[in-house]
Amino acid sequence: MMFFLLDNFSNSSHSVIEDIEKISGRKQVFYDLDIRDTDAVCHILKIHKIDAVIHLAGLKSVGDSSNVPINYYSNNVQGAISLVQAMEFVGVRRLVFSSSATVYGSPKYLPIDELHPSKPTNPYGRNKLHVEQFLSDVATSNRAWSISCLRYFNPVGAHDSGHIGEFPIGVPNNLMPYIAEVASGYRKNLFIFGGDYPTSDGTGVRDYIHVMDLAEGHVAALRFVSTNKGIEYFNLGSGKGFSVLEMISKFEEVSGEKIKYEVSERRVGDVAVSYADSSKA
Ligand code: UD1
Repeated sequence: MMFFLLDNFSNSSHSVIEDIEKISGRKQVFYDLDIRDTDAVCHILKIHKIDAVIHLAGLKSVGDSSNVPINYYSNNVQGAISLVQAMEFVGVRRLVFSSSATVYGSPKYLPIDELHPSKPTNPYGRNKLHVEQFLSDVATSNRAWSISCLRYFNPVGAHDSGHIGEFPIGVPNNLMPYIAEVASGYRKNLFIFGGDYPTSDGTGVRDYIHVMDLAEGHVAALRFVSTNKGIEYFNLGSGKGFSVLEMISKFEEVSGEKIKYEVSERRVGDVAVSYADSSKA
């Protein structure tokens, strides 16, 4: 399988190209461009005779999505429309879209399966749902389309080599990179957002999925879209929930580093427990 990569590098660095080449053991073709440039995307799809697309070019900070919704709608919604326009124009109709469990909003029941109602609670989540709905309309309009929407739970971890992994710019919003920065001495201590949730130890429970498992999910989805038509939705999670304290204690055990923490206020918008029914995937 040959891949061609396209990124506007708004949230990454060109050094990642070399890292991907080290891991894959071959030269990569990278385009520095924005998916909102429909003509340029058409050109790339055509010259390389692309037959399927994995779309992960999304912004994903819940906080930023409330502060700068125009950027989020432009990048996430307009970006997806532009990409699909280019694909339709060239006749490439196989798509794997990285969606999010955030489309479900506050869980009505657990584990969350794909039939759970969608009621996102922030602009980022609404972006993902708008794109899913747009893709559903596209798939209904033309039976030649084959689309898989992958609803990620909480991706964590890095490639085994350590060459690529999560390296957020500024203060991490998510738990794992924050724990890692405390373990490495870069930050003094972790703030646990709430210790009074109705869970076994009072801290929030989430479904953490390793990024390499997530990557395998994408390869499986690529196979799926090459043999099925229409649109499908898949939860990508481990199906198990772990609390913040369990995550800290396992990280300490594996790294041999003490993670200093302090229990602080609950974070607005957080739920007590979320985990997937991942049996469909
Ligand atoms: C968040 C996003 C979600 C997004 C996902 C991407 C929110 C409300 N949701 O999910 O839309 O798809 O990231 O990975 O931001 N925690 C702490 N201290 C911290 C950070 C987190 O205690 O410094 C706790 C949280 O309260 C939560 C758990 O750790 O219980 C996981 O948090 P996080 O990694 O931010 O993921 P989610 O909030 O589940």
